[in-house]
Amino acid sequence: MKHFLTINDLTNLDLAVAEAIALKKDPYKFNNIGENKTLGMLFFNPSLRTRLSTQKAAHQLGIHTMIMNFSNEAWALEFENGTKMSGLRSEHIKEAAAVVSQYCDIVAIRAFASLTDKEGDEAEKVIHNFAKYASIPVVNMESATAHPLQALADAITIKEHTKIKRPKVVLTWAPHPKALPHAVANSFTRMAQKLDVNFVIAQPEGYELDPKITKKIPLYLNQEEALEGADFVYSKNWCSYTDYGKVHPTEDSWMLTAEKLKKTNNAKFMHCLPVRRNIVVADDVLDNPNSLVVEQANNRTFSAQVVLKKIVENG
Ligand code: CP
Repeated sequence: MKHFLTINDLTNLDLAVAEAIALKKDPYKFNNIGENKTLGMLFFNPSLRTRLSTQKAAHQLGIHTMIMNFSNEAWALEFENGTKMSGLRSEHIKEAAAVVSQYCDIVAIRAFASLTDKEGDEAEKVIHNFAKYASIPVVNMESATAHPLQALADAITIKEHTKIKRPKVVLTWAPHPKALPHAVANSFTRMAQKLDVNFVIAQPEGYELDPKITKKIPLYLNQEEALEGADFVYSKNWCSYTDYGKVHPTEDSWMLTAEKLKKTNNAKFMHCLPVRRNIVVADDVLDNPNSLVVEQANNRTFSAQVVLKKIVENG
């Protein structure tokens, strides 16, 4: 694997999940593999889990890390070619990516969607330009349209808690006061299509995800109907895709509660975190032993470790 930009960059998801579960049992087994290697971690947006788990994953492989909050510590980047750079942007991506490649062996980048420029977000301006102009592998720590490290951690978590053949997995939209990107939902959807699960999505009208990603997945406008018999329920907000970046007036009734989960097969609850309590999901779900949210966060270390290990092994 050269770059890890989407979950599709893993040639075999099941094998990657199995490898992550093995690493979890023996995290330091390959602690020399990254000797004398450096991972640069560039953040254009905040993070708790991604930053700490990726750093921990690198350390467990013997890889050094350098971290930069790009949005407030680095020069503002210009991405257009042929531009007369007379404005606020002081450094072109061509030099920035080439220079980072002198100091690091791998670069991991977090750069969220603008939610104002659909075309620019879908072009993945930041991460694709780093991949284009850097001479080292690039790892996606959440880009405009994808969060593959989270999706891999979620696949690990589902595998660890699956007790029946072909469990039912429901991704349900949730209310939120802010417009949020589609990255987590997109990557979870891509990932779930690769697992041997019965996967459905529930969302209010107007919140359909990109049809190029959802393909033929059953979509429910009735959340309670979708939840019936579920083994895993993943709750997540996203803004409108068709009316890009907008939050329509919606029913708060889409918040997940313990009462709603009574219709499920004693479902495990999942969320990528951070989560707004009693907006997205009620306390009685998050504080229930069936909540996997902290385990998902723990599995972020092993999803990152598998990805970094594959990149280092690839040379
Ligand atoms: N789930 C996730 O990516 O968390 P952070 O935004 O805190 O990194």
